[in-house]
Amino acid sequence: MTSYHCPVDGTRSAITALTWCCPACRGPWDLDFAPARGVAANALSGRADSLWRYKEFLPLGTSAISLGEGRTPLVPLTDTVSAKLDFLMPTLSFKDRGAVMLAELARRLGPDRVVADSSGNAGTAFAAYCARAGLPCTVYVPEGTSAKKTEQIRAHGARPVTVPGGREATARAARAAADEPGVFYASHVFNPYFLHGTKTYAYELWEDLGGRLPEALAVPVGNGTLLLGVALAVAELHALGLITARPRLIAVQVEAVSPLASAFRAGADDLLPVGGVAGGGGRDGRGTGGGTDDLPPVGGNGGPEPATLAEGIAIPRPPRARQILAAVRESGGTFLTVPEDGIREAQRDLAARGLFVETTGVACWAAVRAGGNAVRGEVVVPLCGSGLKTGMAASA
Ligand SMILES: Cc1ncc(COP(=O)(O)O)c(C=O)c1O
Repeated sequence: MTSYHCPVDGTRSAITALTWCCPACRGPWDLDFAPARGVAANALSGRADSLWRYKEFLPLGTSAISLGEGRTPLVPLTDTVSAKLDFLMPTLSFKDRGAVMLAELARRLGPDRVVADSSGNAGTAFAAYCARAGLPCTVYVPEGTSAKKTEQIRAHGARPVTVPGGREATARAARAAADEPGVFYASHVFNPYFLHGTKTYAYELWEDLGGRLPEALAVPVGNGTLLLGVALAVAELHALGLITARPRLIAVQVEAVSPLASAFRAGADDLLPVGGVAGGGGRDGRGTGGGTDDLPPVGGNGGPEPATLAEGIAIPRPPRARQILAAVRESGGTFLTVPEDGIREAQRDLAARGLFVETTGVACWAAVRAGGNAVRGEVVVPLCGSGLKTGMAASA
């Protein structure tokens, strides 16, 4: 099996050690993996009708626990903009792409139990895939998490643990449990296998477009797992000579919580310290928002957690900030931010077109339909969570 390495200080760990973060700096791992060989897009017919059809490109190759995730449709919204319907996944969000990787990895490692933390879609996805893998799973959720989501977690046989306080308190509780022996921490932020799942979003586009990618890909960014997965796929396809042109990445945040857009506009290569001067971030330049343990709370200033309709991307200090900023810059792309009204209008607009999408999942369409210089050429937006999870946003 391949191993983890820390992108900041080069520390390494065997995957079997169940070490969920770099012991030196407590930051997220990267994975030592590059596909050794590719396969042409037109040679994939007849394979599994799931993301496991891209086995040459996946560090785990095959899985015993697939629920048929992936292969979501691409439908036109305008002459130049198409939507990829990632809300049509087994647990109704794109998180299934990464959750299946972590559950399959855990199944192979055979831990005593799996823990996860999430206020939303990742928690329900881990619960479902752990059920499929026959693994006991505990999902830490913040107080106030919707009853529907906790019900879904429980329905899959996982144990939801409600933590008083916000996301940061929840992350701390999960990490305390993750430090215990025999525990596999299914973290979508810290475990890089998750990114090797989300990257299949771009592999599917590449296959559907006959071996190329669109000119621009809009991607919602909280902790950046879809964006970093897409960047990984683009790098792999390019390195293997399977694409020549690389898409611009249009990273989308909400105005209310846009730490990465602010850093990008300031020309910084990491999060701005609270107060707004370029250059800082957390310890070793890392952010804290999926939260490292002894760093400032979400919000970065001890204040209340910010309110937005797009709660899934409301991450004030994402730990992979440096990687996200570098990926967007390297692609020639940019950051766009959307106001709350833009979210409401985009959700209503999509529903009027027959697409019922959750409030976070409409953010990219909100950004792209607002237009602007960044939105040119052929663009794909993900509709990445079902409206059944949140319902319609109330009018302002
Ligand atoms: C529907 C939806 N879209 C986008 C995101 C943002 O993903 P990330 O935090 O990995 O950037 C989430 C995260 O929960 C989500 O649930």
